[in-house]
Amino acid sequence: MNYSTSNFTLGILGGGQLGKMLLQVTSRLSIKTNILDPSADSPCKNLCSKFTKGNLMDFDSVYNFGKTCDLVTYEIEHINVEALEKLEKEGIKVFPNSSTLRIIQDKSLQKKFFIDNNIPSAKFKFYKSSKDLNDLDFPCVWKKTKFGYDGYGVKILKSKKDLKNLPESPFIIEELVPFKKELATTIARNQNGEIEIFPIVEMMFNETSNQVEFVVCPAQISEELRIKAEKVALKVSKTFKQVGLLAVEMFLTQNDEILVNEVAPRPHNSAHYSIEGCINSQFDQHISSILNLPLGCSKSSVYTIMANLVGDEGYNGDVIYEGIEEAMKFDNVKIHIYGKKETKPNRKMGHITVIDTELESGLKRAKNIKELIKIKTN
Ligand SMILES: Nc1ncnc2c1ncn2[C@@H]1O[C@H](COP(=O)(O)OP(=O)(O)OP(=O)(O)O)[C@@H](O)[C@H]1O
Ligand SMILES: [Mg+2]
Repeated sequence: MNYSTSNFTLGILGGGQLGKMLLQVTSRLSIKTNILDPSADSPCKNLCSKFTKGNLMDFDSVYNFGKTCDLVTYEIEHINVEALEKLEKEGIKVFPNSSTLRIIQDKSLQKKFFIDNNIPSAKFKFYKSSKDLNDLDFPCVWKKTKFGYDGYGVKILKSKKDLKNLPESPFIIEELVPFKKELATTIARNQNGEIEIFPIVEMMFNETSNQVEFVVCPAQISEELRIKAEKVALKVSKTFKQVGLLAVEMFLTQNDEILVNEVAPRPHNSAHYSIEGCINSQFDQHISSILNLPLGCSKSSVYTIMANLVGDEGYNGDVIYEGIEEAMKFDNVKIHIYGKKETKPNRKMGHITVIDTELESGLKRAKNIKELIKIKTN
């Protein structure tokens, strides 16, 4: 089927930065897109063929939206999954499919899936309420089962004292992994089962905000470990039989074991570097895989460093950016501004990608550029 010349409509649930970067691909291929997002100021609003404002957790909004599309995908996991199930029953394709999403929406189901399928992962226990907590081995990690993102919903518990003020909701307790590095990769898989794996990358965290600050491609690990990490990630992808993208976050332990932390069936921050670093970015591969088109090559032959640009501390409200022009003076840098109307501390507002033939100079440049850019309010 030629998606560009037919009346085919792709529905995308969620209109944030990931949707916006997907639209750059659908625009290049001239594929018609409908987007559903709760915010009238969504970054995608003026870039898609049709924009609908609506609640992604509401059954009717998602179902009615899906009925206007030929195929539905998503750029966020917090969606009404029952509506997706009904759409699938009625013949509307949903990729990645609703059964994958149902598992991934709940960290406890996701961990159980790993254990049931012999996918290496840290030990965990599920709790309905903090009243059921007794005999904990500290340190450990508390994770809300649902609706966490960017580390909100994850807390490292060092002692009993940290149990105070935990929000009342179902959660899991996971053993703390004293990892050497946090690694990630993304896998694209189409309906024919064709698979393309992106390079293994390294995620570097900001110690204050506990969010990913830099992503470095390729990860600085041995060839042996790279192969090991790829094997684990490919196993996860095949076990889910997912169609579309699957981002796999992993820990490299002190003993050089690979443990899967979590997965995301959608484009992911850890593969933004691929827009500049690979011929076929994660967004290209997502569109190709859900439409069952041949997957392109996603190898990379340069060093690529992605740095997240987040809202500065102390500013909430209509955003202004400082230092963009100065940043553009650097060589081999690309700046992405997501177009969110309001900033708040640590909110992802954009990112930069730096390309280099050497890792150290690339990382240094990325750090310098990041220092220049301020995200504030008037
Ligand atoms: N078992 C663990 N041991 C050590 N650190 C952990 C563990 N689980 C999570 N972390 C740390 O907390 C971070 C956030 O955890 P996780 O990825 O599970 O949550 P999240 O909110 O879904 O994250 P995000 O949306 O940022 O991917 C991890 O990237 C890691 O740095
Ligand atoms: Mg994570």
